[in-house]
Amino acid sequence: MIKLAERVSLMKPSPILMLAARAGELKAAGHDVISLSIGEPDWTPYDKIKDAAVASIREGKTKYTPAPGIPELRKAIAEQASSDLGLAFEAAQVTVSSGAKFVLFSALQTLLNPGDEVLLIAPFWASYTTMVELAGGIPKIVVCDKTSDFKLTPEMLKKAIGPRTKAILMNSPSNPTGKIYSMADLKALAEVLRAAPGVAVISDDIYNRLCFEHRLAPHLLQAAPDLRDRVICLNGASKSYAMTGWRLGWALGPKEVINAMSAYQSQSVSCPNSMAQYAAIEAIRSCDPDVARTVESLKDRAASIAREVEKIPGVIAAKPEGAFYLWIDISAYLGKSLNGKVMKTSDDLSEALLMDQMVAAVPGSEFGLDGYFRLSYALSKEKATEAAARMATFFKKLG
Ligand SMILES: Cc1ncc(COP(=O)(O)O)c(C=O)c1O
Repeated sequence: MIKLAERVSLMKPSPILMLAARAGELKAAGHDVISLSIGEPDWTPYDKIKDAAVASIREGKTKYTPAPGIPELRKAIAEQASSDLGLAFEAAQVTVSSGAKFVLFSALQTLLNPGDEVLLIAPFWASYTTMVELAGGIPKIVVCDKTSDFKLTPEMLKKAIGPRTKAILMNSPSNPTGKIYSMADLKALAEVLRAAPGVAVISDDIYNRLCFEHRLAPHLLQAAPDLRDRVICLNGASKSYAMTGWRLGWALGPKEVINAMSAYQSQSVSCPNSMAQYAAIEAIRSCDPDVARTVESLKDRAASIAREVEKIPGVIAAKPEGAFYLWIDISAYLGKSLNGKVMKTSDDLSEALLMDQMVAAVPGSEFGLDGYFRLSYALSKEKATEAAARMATFFKKLG
């Protein structure tokens, strides 16, 4: 029997992917499942993106590329960020790799020494904790509940920063709450960060183009350009351009960090997928009007699912501001029972909902805050309405 490395014990498989797989199995077995679990657009990339990928294949641009990505793509990303943030970035401050998830992994591997603390704002994307631990870091979780609209306040940040704090991970619009930090929120947080010069900020901007009231989410670097030497911005093609399976993400930041990340990537995945890189240039350079149309449709779907879900007695939806997640408070149903089983946690409720009504919703515990469900509404309005109706039936049965 081969003994596995100790770090394997840290590697919890992604619960969201597991729930999605379970929903897929039930579907394959003939059940009429509606999955609100996975964070994935239900549309495919715009045609010009597909055409650019096909053209790159036909032109034989299919070899290994430089580890941090092809120069044209790094330039396009730097130009987009410069225009988005009103700050000049050069291609040398960009590294591209296999999805924003791996780029975050590589950033944490590059920044953390054993025992370094990383502040995570709960509710947070489920993968953050494991990634911090795999890099030898210690996740320090700051729980932000409905009293602060699920956002970090300057007071909480001040209290959380300690001598071992190496970085803070921020995500706006947020997965799972869909909440966005305003410019005023960011300015207030920046004040606290200025007083903590050793703390790096990893800003996960993966949903920054999917905002209902702004073209782009306000950014810490707009609120505080003076912090640019310690802010690392993460982004990618998965969400804005519906390129989840193409695996392309990137980081922008101080050159020493970017160079170290590129070196780490060169010894792990070598380089990002070549055709996805050519396609991403097209996405970045010409798809803003398409993204704007998509956002209008998401906004409409968000309002529709929130309306339907709020018809269920006791369920409260956090007002969605961006991304494609609805964060709903289901705590009124904790402690109730179905067929003799007491629903102690949102995990119990999620499990029972799937088996009773064939609806997959991710329990809040996966994001560090129990008593909630995250519903991914990147699906048709009809399906979302049907899912809400089934949820209403389910919750009515609980006694
Ligand atoms: C908050 C957040 N960050 C990063 C990612 C990673 O995206 P990808 O690896 O597909 O680029 C996701 C995907 O679900 C996410 O929700």
